[in-house]
Amino acid sequence: MGSIVLFGPPGAGKGTQAQRIMEHTGLPQVSTGDMLRAAVKMGSPIGLEAKSFMDKGALVPDDVILGLIKERIQHDDAANGVMFDGFPRTIPQAEALSNLTEITHVLAIEVPDERIVERICGRVTCGACGKVFHDTFNPVPPEGCECGSFQEKRRVDDNEATVLTRLDAYHVQTSPLADWYRSRGLFHSVDGDRDIADITDDLLNILN
Ligand code: AP5
Ligand code: MG
Repeated sequence: MGSIVLFGPPGAGKGTQAQRIMEHTGLPQVSTGDMLRAAVKMGSPIGLEAKSFMDKGALVPDDVILGLIKERIQHDDAANGVMFDGFPRTIPQAEALSNLTEITHVLAIEVPDERIVERICGRVTCGACGKVFHDTFNPVPPEGCECGSFQEKRRVDDNEATVLTRLDAYHVQTSPLADWYRSRGLFHSVDGDRDIADITDDLLNILN
């Protein structure tokens, strides 16, 4: 088995779907955004370099990202492949990745721009387990997160001004990857402007 790429704009539901399809594929989620936020929190050199880009909503330089990925895919749990979430985001990242691991499917979650701001600005994450919720569309259950120790967390880049920069980065730097993967026969897209569970069903059908 090779690796899968979850592709789409900010707020498309990459993290939400990764958590759901992980249970079926057994492939670990590798989110470069989550790895960078962990590095920022630790105050590591990578975190210090990445923070200024992330706070603005700009992409972090390719060499930083590729360093993280090369290290991550050495871990034992990546031996049978991984599910990349938010990586690759530029053509140089995709080119480098093609020399590191086999990609079997690129799953694009399509969501129109006008939906993105409301999704991002209402996002809540459980600080204890990382599960993603939304104030309106996917609320935290009254009994709290299933991990049992819900801690409400909101991302510093989840504000309207930064979202617009992130969307712009997506359209200019990341969306050309759709044709890059399409020409290699790996690209599949699903309508992401629907119920979370229906999107999961479509993604699993593509994988089966
Ligand atoms: P990253 O963390 O990857 O952020 P992003 O791409 O902007 O994507 P998000 O995590 O915001 O959205 P998502 O698609 O995971 O959606 P989610 O499931 O949470 O990157 C952050 C930053 O790190 C970047 O800006 C950049 O600086 C840097 N970076 C990361 N990777 C990089 C790379 N490879 N190269 C360079 N720089 C990099 O859902 C969003 C909300 O919507 C949630 O509240 C959810 O509950 C809700 N929702 C989900 N699905 C639905 C649905 N179907 N209907 C209604 N609501 C829904
Ligand atoms: Mg995410």
